[in-house]
Amino acid sequence: MIVAVDGPAASGKGTIARAIARRFDLPHLDTGLLYRAVGLNLLRWGGDPESEFSALRACDFSQMDFADAELKSEAVGGIASRISVYPMVRQALVERQRQFAGQPGGAVLDGRDIGTVIAPDADAKLFVTARPEVRAQRRYEELKRFGLDVHLADVLLDIQARDERDRNRATAPLRPAADAELIDTSEMGVEAAAAQAIAVIERRLHVSI
Ligand code: DC
Repeated sequence: MIVAVDGPAASGKGTIARAIARRFDLPHLDTGLLYRAVGLNLLRWGGDPESEFSALRACDFSQMDFADAELKSEAVGGIASRISVYPMVRQALVERQRQFAGQPGGAVLDGRDIGTVIAPDADAKLFVTARPEVRAQRRYEELKRFGLDVHLADVLLDIQARDERDRNRATAPLRPAADAELIDTSEMGVEAAAAQAIAVIERRLHVSI
């Protein structure tokens, strides 16, 4: 079974995807980490995020430690969003994601274009959203827990800029697949949202048996 979980930054899609993976005993890939790895490579090499060719060169992950905490930083997330508009970068990362999705038994992938581009034939598709203010508050609390000195207003601006770029890029923009189930986590905890997501998938599995 392939499960596609898409949605904007800090919507809770990662937590939901991990809960689904645990429930159905499936491997999970956070595809945002791939774009973040390109961003971190660029940052370390002093490459120019404005250059598509420079970003393409940064798609070599042979030296990347995917456990590196810096991958999760806001700075790297911002560069990831900027370089993810480039068709050549997206193309360079497609195969790795499709192979993960296509492994025997299936997988759960979360990102922006899983249900639309990477795995359009996924057995279940979820699109997880929440109001920008709610997502900013969540991200703000997370960054505070990491001991970072941030301001809520800046985090909100950052999320809005990221949404704008992710939704309006020409290649594989963030949007729900026509057959995706929408889950709005604005008014519920992410745990409750994960339970709802699992119920949606169980219902779909039941229908297809
Ligand atoms: O989910 P995230 O915040 O870790 O993703 C970082 C950036 O990577 C996001 O702003 C856009 C890009 N991305 C993408 O374009 N396609 C994906 N499937 C996953 C992430």
